[in-house]
Amino acid sequence: MNELDSLVESATQLFAQSATPADLENAKAQFLGKSGRVTELMKGMAQLSVEEKKSRGAAINVAKQAIEAALTARRQALADAELQLQLKAEALDVSLPGRQRGQGGLHPVSLTLERIQGIFGSMGFDVAEGPEIESDWFNFTALNTPEDHPARSMHDTFYVEGGTATAPNLLRTHTSPMQIRHAVQHVKKHRAALDAGQAMPEIRVIAPGRTYRVDSDATHSPMFHQCEGLWIGENVSFKDLKVIFTDFCRTFFESDDLVLRFRPSFFPFTEPSAEIDIQFQTGPLAGRWLEVAGSGQVHPNVVRNMGLDPEKYIGFAFGMGPDRLTMLRYGVNDLRLFFDGDIRFLSQFQ
Ligand code: DAH
Repeated sequence: MNELDSLVESATQLFAQSATPADLENAKAQFLGKSGRVTELMKGMAQLSVEEKKSRGAAINVAKQAIEAALTARRQALADAELQLQLKAEALDVSLPGRQRGQGGLHPVSLTLERIQGIFGSMGFDVAEGPEIESDWFNFTALNTPEDHPARSMHDTFYVEGGTATAPNLLRTHTSPMQIRHAVQHVKKHRAALDAGQAMPEIRVIAPGRTYRVDSDATHSPMFHQCEGLWIGENVSFKDLKVIFTDFCRTFFESDDLVLRFRPSFFPFTEPSAEIDIQFQTGPLAGRWLEVAGSGQVHPNVVRNMGLDPEKYIGFAFGMGPDRLTMLRYGVNDLRLFFDGDIRFLSQFQ
């Protein structure tokens, strides 16, 4: 190997040993710098003849170009390595699953309300909704509830400021005011027929919604749900209530051998009144009587407040608690779980 070849080789080696761009620039200076070895060789040609300069110069140039090429290659290699390091350090794992937004679902009580509407809908009942801020008239007076009834006390009912007995002044304590509201609308719609002595289509409606009372423990919440039912016609009897409600409970709980009991009770707006209890024959609640609704034959005073003649129109009403139905259906023992908003609880119903 001649002197120039070994020069190229030692330059290439030194470049290869340079681990950083700064090292590489120092190595370059040793060969191509002002007093570098290639420059020294050029200077050394001064004493040569013209002919010798030509061939010697050409040979040195070839070596110089080889060294420059090795330098460029090494610079590129160092830059590539640097880039690889950076890419590695800043790498994103694109195979990680993304963070998705959980899919929402209906609240268990909403599921129950939908279920109730579906079942009563199939039995020809309409669905009505009304205001949660109600007047004294609709919530109490029109429902034959006397001025001194305990339900009207401050301990039981949330009153709002600025109302009057006929303008909104309280949070409704039950969905029963919807009996009057809906019936009055219905009667208004059929006024002409009634006045002409013709028959009025029966009132058959349920009214689900939120209700409020000053009450809070494992089975009572200040806000809870009710679903009212009302059926008024010329020929509607307690027997119809029994048939309808038994059918409803058996369908709702998907249990054909479920037994119902109508236990005499008292409500100002019905006479006679009954508490409805159910009993499962199988499952964890088997054998226990569980109260699910209040009911009764609509009181003549209430029928009158609907704008109808109680001598001619008769019917029944019931009020049930969808929260309680949900607890029974799913085996939940604390009502407050429904309203705490804990996703771990709620997601179990999806
Ligand atoms: N409104 C009653 C309550 O909240 C429940 C009730 C009982 C509703 C008898 C009715 C009924 O329609 O006929 O306790």
